[in-house]
Amino acid sequence: MAPARVAAGVLLAAIGFVLSVVADNPTTTSPQPFVWQKAHATFYGGTRRLRHDGWRLRCYKIACDRKRADLLFCKPGVTVTVTATNFCPPNDALPNDNGGWCNPSRPHFDMAQPAWEKIGVYRGGIIPVMYQRVPCVKRGGVKFRINGHDYFNLVLVSNVAAAGSIKSMDVKSSNSDDWMPMARDWGANWHSLANLTNKMLSFRLTNTDGHILVFNNVVPKGWNFGQSFVSKLQFY
Ligand SMILES: *[C@@H]1O[C@H](CO)[C@@H](O)[C@H](O)[C@H]1NC(C)=O
Repeated sequence: MAPARVAAGVLLAAIGFVLSVVADNPTTTSPQPFVWQKAHATFYGGTRRLRHDGWRLRCYKIACDRKRADLLFCKPGVTVTVTATNFCPPNDALPNDNGGWCNPSRPHFDMAQPAWEKIGVYRGGIIPVMYQRVPCVKRGGVKFRINGHDYFNLVLVSNVAAAGSIKSMDVKSSNSDDWMPMARDWGANWHSLANLTNKMLSFRLTNTDGHILVFNNVVPKGWNFGQSFVSKLQFY
């Protein structure tokens, strides 16, 4: 397994259910207090990359819960921080306490194996954990990748620190004073139906904690579809 792919896997986890408890209140403007809560955690092997249909990325610190765990399967005094989506495939054929780990009403982390093995022992398979939401830490600025075609600009927003995900996005071209709202397409992809080809572009992002950042002229005039642009700005 190539080191780069392992690193990507370590950071990804899927979480079923719990997000709605703290997240889905649109009037929330500041992060919820970070408290420890209970869940279970399993792992997946290989280098699966989550293609999340849920759009909400968040970061969690996770530790094996020694009060509830078989101590043979728990690594003491270690936490691991993961980026999680609210996507964890439910399995209706299995009960939620035996195989259907991601079925509704059960907080659960399905983690990349290297991350899971920092807190659990392989033979355990599933361990009780304590988890706490933490701000996402990212290196460098927010990134934008432009796909699509004239009249359909699909912009992937990545490397979002702090809250981890975006609630709304607007675009402005250099020959206009108007911000045009973009629509969320899937995951962290947003689209605009305007023809933005050959225009210098600015983006305005509002994150899920309600903070707004303006990325002035982050995309230069000569851009092409398929290109990525790294800004110097980041959420804190
Ligand atoms: C979109 O705008 C560019 C630049 O103004 C232009 O060259 C192109 O023909 C337009 N695309 C369509 C499909 O009208």
